[in-house]
Amino acid sequence: MDGNGRWAQERGMPRTEGHRAGEKVLMNMVDACIDLGGVEWLSAYTFSTENWRRSPEEVRFLMGFSREVMRAERDQLHEKNVRIVWVGRRPRLWRSVIRELEEAEELTKNNTGLTLAMCINYGGRAEIADAARQMAKAVERGEMRSGEITEAQISNWLYRPDMPDVDLFLRPSGEQRTSNFLLWQSAYAEMVYRDILFPDFTAEDLYDAVLEYAKRDRRFGGVK
Ligand code: IPE
Ligand code: MG
Repeated sequence: MDGNGRWAQERGMPRTEGHRAGEKVLMNMVDACIDLGGVEWLSAYTFSTENWRRSPEEVRFLMGFSREVMRAERDQLHEKNVRIVWVGRRPRLWRSVIRELEEAEELTKNNTGLTLAMCINYGGRAEIADAARQMAKAVERGEMRSGEITEAQISNWLYRPDMPDVDLFLRPSGEQRTSNFLLWQSAYAEMVYRDILFPDFTAEDLYDAVLEYAKRDRRFGGVK
């Protein structure tokens, strides 16, 4: 969800207004994915393990805002049969944010529509390091042998073992990098970059990105 800050600055507004505008767009993206049909997971990178480097004011705003958003949107998302899951690491994340996320997860856990993964205090390297530490502990306890550590086994120790591999990795705002998002899961993702700041992103822009994705020839290292 990149470009919120620039969008606000272009309008002479504080960066926080960009985050407010971006939140509305995220909800539009949920609706657009539901309308598309066939989209099972939508993962939103809303706060990274590196975002703690921002000013204390912005960090404080983003924490409070994440909590507010979950509380304000969860009932509507629930009505849309959306299953909300939190993907991220616990240390450092505000306890009140974790509480809202867990309540939203509990409320929507039996929903069968779109899964919305809120990636908050998420980092791809942190996720892999956390998985490695958990696996090492399991080996120490004698519950697992080091020889059993395979690619499939590593997937089982990630924050959400049920998260499928990424098909379409879409980044707005003009930046062309992953910035540590879903590193393991994106090994064969199709990258689509758009020169549109996230608050300006529309359902049409999403459909356009999906059409580009549909034109790609996915071989997964094989030959057709
Ligand atoms: C994305 O917008 C939202 C978060 C990472 C919280 P940015 O805040 O990164 O906006 P820019 O990139 O500074 O414009
Ligand atoms: Mg940014």
